[in-house]
Amino acid sequence: MSRIQVPKIPSSELTPEPLYYSRRTWLSLVGLSGISAFIAPSAAAQDRWPQGKQGPYDTDEKPSTFREITTYNNFYEFGTDKSDPAAYSGDFKPKPWTVRIDGHVKKEADVQLEDLLKPFAVEDRIYRMRCVEGWSMVIPWRGIPLASILKRVEPTSKARYVAFQTVLRPEEMPGQRRRVLDWPYVEGLRLDEALHPLTFMATGLYGRDLPNQNGAPFRLVVPWKYGFKSIKSIVRMTLTATEPPTTWNLSAPDEYGFYSNVNPEVDHPRWSQKTERRIGEFGKRKTLMLNGYAGLVEGLYAGMDLKKHY
Ligand code: MTE
Repeated sequence: MSRIQVPKIPSSELTPEPLYYSRRTWLSLVGLSGISAFIAPSAAAQDRWPQGKQGPYDTDEKPSTFREITTYNNFYEFGTDKSDPAAYSGDFKPKPWTVRIDGHVKKEADVQLEDLLKPFAVEDRIYRMRCVEGWSMVIPWRGIPLASILKRVEPTSKARYVAFQTVLRPEEMPGQRRRVLDWPYVEGLRLDEALHPLTFMATGLYGRDLPNQNGAPFRLVVPWKYGFKSIKSIVRMTLTATEPPTTWNLSAPDEYGFYSNVNPEVDHPRWSQKTERRIGEFGKRKTLMLNGYAGLVEGLYAGMDLKKHY
């Protein structure tokens, strides 16, 4: 982000939707043998799912396609180009996976991800996501609210923030072999933000397990904040008394603050935040306050100057 000037749009993004669908339909009709028969039906099924707004937190906007969501990514552990995470995450092993939860909690946890998730019912949530670089998508996530996990470990009265940490595996993550950022990637939320019902831990999208490039097997999703707060491939969460350091703030403090709420009235030093391009569309859309979630989350920031706390 701090080093990318203009996001490169892979030519695959420029295929107009109807053409893309008809190419797949064509493949499924003629491809009765060989690889196309194998690929075409499952690709079509991915984009038919899910059916649309179901719960109170879902947007009713049309989800981005599975291909858009899985080929245009930021995940610097696999490279800085938007196409790098899909191209270079093939050696990453998201199973088995252990998560540690520590700090100011009554019940520390150091558990296999399946055991951590077992007590909870998975939910599907269709969220608008907005990157600070000026693009956005609509993503059908699968996962559980972060609050469910946090309540189980019982934060003590000293806990005021949650610090998150991405796995450090340079042997599987080629981007970590270069010091583009200070690894491991770290992020943080205030405890009330972390406990908000919109704050979600995703384990999947489009009804299936998370692809490596989207942060397998376990990532944060905070839809009213710029995308970089939604840290991927998490191995540790620590409840802290003071504001934890965050990777992009350490890298460029004047550009990325701790809060990083989507706010069309506060420009990034190099990019206006007033409009955005929805991946797959050609025009620009107006960016909404708190990414359209103001009604649900503005109470968290009552009395705060959001220009100062950017
Ligand atoms: N998490 C880690 N560990 N490393 C990253 O580089 N990039 C962030 C965020 N989480 C990033 C990360 C940024 S800038 C964005 S916009 C989102 O992931 C993109 O998530 P997506 O590719 O699933 O849409």
